[in-house]
Amino acid sequence: MPPRKKRATSAKKNEMKESEVKKTESTSFSTNNNLSSSNSIEIKNKDSTIESISDLPGIGPATAKKLTESGFGTLGSLATVSVGELVSVGNLGDATSRKIIQAARDALNFGFIPADEVLERRRNMLKITTGSASLDDLFGGGIETAAVTEFYGEYRTGKTQIAHQLCVAAQLPRELGGLNIDGEEPLKVIYIDTEGTFRPERILNMSKRWEGDVDVKKVLKNIMHGRAYNSDHQMVLAEKAAQDSQTQRIGLVVVDSLIAHFRAEYVGRGTLATRQQKLNQHIHTLLKMAEVGNMAVIVTNQVHSKPDMFFGDPIAPVGGHIVAHASQTRVYLRKSKGERRIARIADSPLLPENETVFAITGDGILDVG
Ligand SMILES: Nc1ncnc2c1ncn2[C@@H]1O[C@H](COP(=O)(O)OP(=O)(O)OP(=O)(O)O)[C@@H](O)[C@H]1O
Ligand SMILES: [Mg+2]
Repeated sequence: MPPRKKRATSAKKNEMKESEVKKTESTSFSTNNNLSSSNSIEIKNKDSTIESISDLPGIGPATAKKLTESGFGTLGSLATVSVGELVSVGNLGDATSRKIIQAARDALNFGFIPADEVLERRRNMLKITTGSASLDDLFGGGIETAAVTEFYGEYRTGKTQIAHQLCVAAQLPRELGGLNIDGEEPLKVIYIDTEGTFRPERILNMSKRWEGDVDVKKVLKNIMHGRAYNSDHQMVLAEKAAQDSQTQRIGLVVVDSLIAHFRAEYVGRGTLATRQQKLNQHIHTLLKMAEVGNMAVIVTNQVHSKPDMFFGDPIAPVGGHIVAHASQTRVYLRKSKGERRIARIADSPLLPENETVFAITGDGILDVG
């Protein structure tokens, strides 16, 4: 095995953040209690007598089993479910559902927390390298976990290529910009493919530059591919991913593309409300999964041209306000000369609106040489 290269970005090392988090003295409680705490956001547990959903009032063994099978097997998932949803999935009464949700929230100390604690939680987040130092710099170190990042742009701007590259990069060790810890079971990647453009051959090509750092023979085994044939199927796959994330270690979920099916199926003004409602539900599933499981969620999006724009770039992502609000970071990709592409931070709660150039090559996403 060749010696490990240093990560070629100016990113703060994920490792450092971990050790800082470990210093906290509070009883930490993983929202995703089936997983190693190294992949979960730690939330202070107010009531240490409640450690799993079976400890909650009103949940017997049969209900616990049923809830776990429906994807509500953790305190975190019960603390964030709506009463209506719990009534239907758990076959429980309204009052019992409210009691369970409240108890889960109390156990996890949900509600308002001081901002220094928010900062502490954010330190537990990880960043996945894109493979290009300039792109990583643009993102403040890489693609964040516990958030939804959206890449939008015209056709052939590199959305699918970046999604493929991240599937490999996520499998790097943490000190090189991935999510894995030496000696622990590797994290899995889920790829929801709505356009049939996932290419395992491309993943293998992209893995070669990290030979020795990622296990090239296992890199495909760690990526679970789901081909979504329509929007309902896509929603089911996302829910399945959320459910699987409670029993398996999943670090990255890709949805390529987020909107294509919704756009094709709901045509005309009359269907817009239904489309947005479904899309909202789908995005909510992704957002919650990202935050509760400390996973990176990457979605790609198409663009449309705004006819009423007389100044500036008329290209805008589709999906309207619903997608805009759910994606924490929105990245606009444009073509440049040859293999060059331009990435621009179009919206972020933290990052400035900068842009940078990168290249799509046979080996994947690289800095411009
Ligand atoms: N093996 C390769 N070697 C070099 N460049 C490649 C390779 N495969 C793909 N590309 C580059 O990637 C581009 C396609 O990018 P990608 O598939 O990510 O586009 P996209 O933004 O997902 O487009 P769409 O909206 O059509 O899905 C190609 O035009 C080509 O320039
Ligand atoms: Mg694509």
